[in-house]
Formats: sequence, C-alpha cells, structure tokens
Amino acid sequence: EDTAQMRAKLLDWYRRHLRDLPWRRTRDPYAIWVSEIMLQQTRVAAVVERYEQFLKNFPTVVALAHAAEADVLALWSGLGYYRRARMMHKAAKTVVEQFGGVMPASAAALRDLPGIGVYTSAAIASIAYGEPVAVVDGNVERVVQRLAGWGSESREGQAELNRKIADYATRLLDPTAPGDFNQAMMELGATMCLPKAPLCLACPLREHCKTQGEHPAPTRARMRSE
Ligand code: ADE
Repeated sequence: EDTAQMRAKLLDWYRRHLRDLPWRRTRDPYAIWVSEIMLQQTRVAAVVERYEQFLKNFPTVVALAHAAEADVLALWSGLGYYRRARMMHKAAKTVVEQFGGVMPASAAALRDLPGIGVYTSAAIASIAYGEPVAVVDGNVERVVQRLAGWGSESREGQAELNRKIADYATRLLDPTAPGDFNQAMMELGATMCLPKAPLCLACPLREHCKTQGEHPAPTRARMRSE
C-alpha cells in the first residue's frame, strides 16, 4: 500500500544517491553523535574535515571525557556554537562516570545526557542502534508538511502542528531500516524538497505528495536548541 511504496521509493533513492560521508561508514554511536552535533550548525562539506580531525584527536567517548576543555574547544574552532562542544564534553564525562564509558543504548537513555535532545537522541539511536525512532529536523518538517499538504493556512497552533508532523514521520518510518530512512528524509529535504524552489520533477515521492511544490510550506522555526 501507499506507505510501503513510499518507504521503498525513498530508500531506493537514498541508496542510489548516497554521498560517501565518513559518518555513514560507521555504526559507532559516539562517532554518529559527533557528526550530528556538527551537522546541526555547519554545512556537510565543512563538517567532513572537522569530523575527521576531532575523531583523530578524541577517538572514543573516554578520550573526549579525559581531554582538557581548551583542547576540545580548539578542535571546535570555526564551527561556532562552542556551547555545543562544552555540552558534549560534559556529556562524555557523564558517560564515563555513570555508564563506565559505554554510550547509553536507547534514544530515551541518550536523552538524559546534557545537550542530547529529541533530535540528536533519535538520530544516534536510529543510525547506530537501528532503533525505530523518527528524526524530525527542519528539513523533515518541511518534507512532511508538503507530503501531507499542511501549509500555512493551517488553523492549529504550532505545538499541535509539531505533534502531527512527528506522528506522520513516525508512521512513515521504515522499522526495518530506521537509520537509512531518517537520513533519506533529511537528505530529501536538504537536496530536493528545497524551501523556495523544490525539485519536484526529480522527487522520488512526487506521486505521493499532496502539494508537489504548489504550496510551499512556510518557513518554520528551526529545531529548538538542545
Ligand atoms: N543532517 C543532519 N544529519 C544528517 C544525516 N545523518 N544525514 C543527512 N542529513 C543530515
């Protein structure tokens, strides 16, 4: 039925267009975590080099926990939002002190760490552990709004709309490949379902989309800072 077709088309598109990025060659939750924090604020092209440098200096969560803050911030230079680096350093110490240096093994447990909110926990858990939790970032919100035809005319409040979007993303999520599915949704939003001029003719979900670019979703507040 429709959901099964959408999942198959999206995953097929993603796997054919996959960019070979270093964090897509690992299932290490710590490495995925580093990549997701960096990707929240910086373009993919700029992240690649910084990600590799960071992991070379701090290859494990234990290494990060034991690092001096000045060294962590030095490797973050140019990425901005130093608060995120400080929070990650703090969370790494928590992982060492409370969990013996082992990353918590579920989205719910990850969310208890400083700086890891709904978005980051879902990204790590789905990609590293295969946990079936939907990731909703600004790009995914726009994709879902367009697929479902929920535009700016919507009368409900922001909170209600956010809940509907999360529910839709959760129903659509492919439980057999949650990491790839979530990355496919983010990638579709970033490269195809563009805010101003979406590339609908090339979109794998075109036949399933209520709007097909006719009613661009409004610009919405980006993900709240975690
Ligand atoms: N944006 C943030 N994280 C991403 C990921 N893992 N894949 C694609 N886009 C992303």
